[in-house]
Amino acid sequence: MAVILDARGLEKRFGAVTAASNINVSVEQGAIVGLIGSNGAGKTTFLNMVTGYLRPDAGSILFDGRDITGQKPRRITQQGICRSFQIPQLYNSMSVAENLMVGVGIVASGGRGWAASNALDGTPEQAVSRMLEQFGLAGLRHRQAGLLPEGTRKLLDIAMAMVVRPRVLLLDEPTSGVSADEKFALMDMVMAAVRAMQVTVLFVEHDMEVVERYVQRILAFYEGRIIADGPPAEVLRDVEVRRFVIGEQDPPAGDRHA
Ligand SMILES: Nc1ncnc2c1ncn2[C@@H]1O[C@H](COP(=O)(O)OP(=O)(O)OP(=O)(O)O)[C@@H](O)[C@H]1O
Ligand SMILES: [Mg+2]
Repeated sequence: MAVILDARGLEKRFGAVTAASNINVSVEQGAIVGLIGSNGAGKTTFLNMVTGYLRPDAGSILFDGRDITGQKPRRITQQGICRSFQIPQLYNSMSVAENLMVGVGIVASGGRGWAASNALDGTPEQAVSRMLEQFGLAGLRHRQAGLLPEGTRKLLDIAMAMVVRPRVLLLDEPTSGVSADEKFALMDMVMAAVRAMQVTVLFVEHDMEVVERYVQRILAFYEGRIIADGPPAEVLRDVEVRRFVIGEQDPPAGDRHA
């Protein structure tokens, strides 16, 4: 499989804090990757560098073979990397469909600069309808975004990132603030859309049940470094990951129940 995203030697410092230290990540097209790590480990910093919200102090980021290091967020989005945020970025006074229309409108009015893969298929209204169907939001299209439950707000935020048909989708804690009985339904919906649209996904997640269920690969962050990278079964068994990410105090084998 072709590599779609390639980060090499990324460094980022905030005063005395090292938020990224020699980050090397190569992601193959179509992969579903989970980013784990305790608070302040550098997960969001990594997403911010990939999406242009932060400029790395050193290192480079290649997207589909092109160097995008230090480009503006809008330019990076136009090329096909989109994201959702820890806190959904919605227009609260507008309806669900109107929120999606804003996302579509950005493409429709964008003209030059948008990659061919972003080009709208049909009218803006058709693009919105497709997205409403894809994310199970059709019945809520006229509801005001500000009055929706958190799980639905998260879903709409992700749908807005997907409406421009990205090739890579970065999600920052898609299930945070979502109730335990809603989180799997939310992720099932997102993953079905991701598969249908053949998007590569990297998502930050604190819930190990969610990580184990949906990803093929985990990147574990600690103090700005990647301390483990591999299949979930391997990474979640790693001694450093158990100590620094999951926060275990070296329990004797057999002491834990699933
Ligand atoms: N804009 C900033 N200015 C100063 N320090 C920052 C900034 N952004 C991040 N940091 C610091 O960099 C470190 C990594 O932060 P980051 O937000 O990447 O962590 P995270 O892994 O996303 O954590 P969380 O799980 O809490 O979201 C932290 O010590 C944080 O305080
Ligand atoms: Mg974060």
